[in-house]
Amino acid sequence: MMDRLTEINPFVVGKYVSDRYFCDRSKETETLIRHLTNGRHVALIAPRRLGKSELIKHCFRQTEMTDNFYTFFVDIYATSTLQDLVYVLSRAVYEQLKPRADAWREKFFQIVSSLRLGFKLDALTGEPTFDIGLGDISAPDVTLQQIFAYIAAADRPCVIAIDEFQQIGNYPEKNVEALLRTHMQQCENAVFVFAGSKRHVMAQMFNSPNQPFYSSAIAMELGPIARDTYAEFAMSLFEQRGKSLNRNVVDQIYEQLHGITWFLQMMMNELFALTADGQCCTVDYIPVAWQQIMNTQDTIYREMMAHLSSRQKQLLQAIARAGAVKEITSGRFLQSHKLGTASSVQSALRVLLERQLVTQQDRCYSIYDPFFSHWIVGHF
Ligand SMILES: Nc1ncnc2c1ncn2[C@@H]1O[C@H](COP(=O)(O)OP(=O)(O)O)[C@@H](O)[C@H]1O
Ligand SMILES: [Mg+2]
Repeated sequence: MMDRLTEINPFVVGKYVSDRYFCDRSKETETLIRHLTNGRHVALIAPRRLGKSELIKHCFRQTEMTDNFYTFFVDIYATSTLQDLVYVLSRAVYEQLKPRADAWREKFFQIVSSLRLGFKLDALTGEPTFDIGLGDISAPDVTLQQIFAYIAAADRPCVIAIDEFQQIGNYPEKNVEALLRTHMQQCENAVFVFAGSKRHVMAQMFNSPNQPFYSSAIAMELGPIARDTYAEFAMSLFEQRGKSLNRNVVDQIYEQLHGITWFLQMMMNELFALTADGQCCTVDYIPVAWQQIMNTQDTIYREMMAHLSSRQKQLLQAIARAGAVKEITSGRFLQSHKLGTASSVQSALRVLLERQLVTQQDRCYSIYDPFFSHWIVGHF
């Protein structure tokens, strides 16, 4: 299925397909794998949409990993309690075992006995299935302990990636970090990758001496893919399909999109679609593609706006219009956008930063998503 789609458009958005459609990251892949194969836990930190999750998935597909490790990818973005976390972790571990018909799989429900109720055989295929609801995790700490016991007993070392790790800080239970840390230290058979996009939250977790994860992982920061590297990748995908792409198209969009991988891929996907067979994509295509993307994102953007207070919306609009704002509480900025007091701007700003709609770099604020920024200016 995916192969057919990539035959139509090789610029994949939101999914890891294979090496062919994955741009570079060779150094980062090597570094991450080296840390993991040497038993070092890693904290992978980068702003949203630069490619942390994809990098981890890419690493997990490399033979050094597939031949020697069991790998688990757990995205905890949507979790809000320890119970949720244990649920997604159990699922990830179990799903990984599904294709295997060996003793290790059998062992799962022996060791993770608290989930035995969920063990069912599929009526049609006779295959075991994981039919557990959240509510079945009645003692999350017990199940967690069992999962770790199971991992410890595995016949290969395990790599567990916990994506959107900062989410753990929002759980109502206050001991989750300490609990995980203890298991992590006791389990000699597992190495962890913690990925997160909120730099200050991650830094607080891993760099503060009074926090459970203090000094427990090597920090690895991910930057944008280099412009030349991305240009080469994009141009060659066009050429493989009998189309061509002007280099200055890449230069221009790389600049406009700040080299953020996800936006680049969206843009290239659209530009590729707009370019007829045998034709060359030039900078003239950019405004059309840009408009198409704003159209497709329209519902999402409206939804995001609907979740903001009018003060927050006002501030967002002011930032979008200004492009980048240095002195956000200066009288001039407040007055020219009729934003009220500095303190109300501060509190609105906190929310916008927290939701990662606005980003701060060198004391300068801007809207993170350039398409969204453009959309706001056009709609409000
Ligand atoms: N190396 C890459 N080559 C091509 N596309 C990529 C690459 N890395 C990321 N992407 C694209 O960017 C999107 C965002 O990447 P993702 O890993 O989800 O970011 P993050 O986890 O940092 O928020 C992916 O859905 C994918 O479309
Ligand atoms: Mg991610």
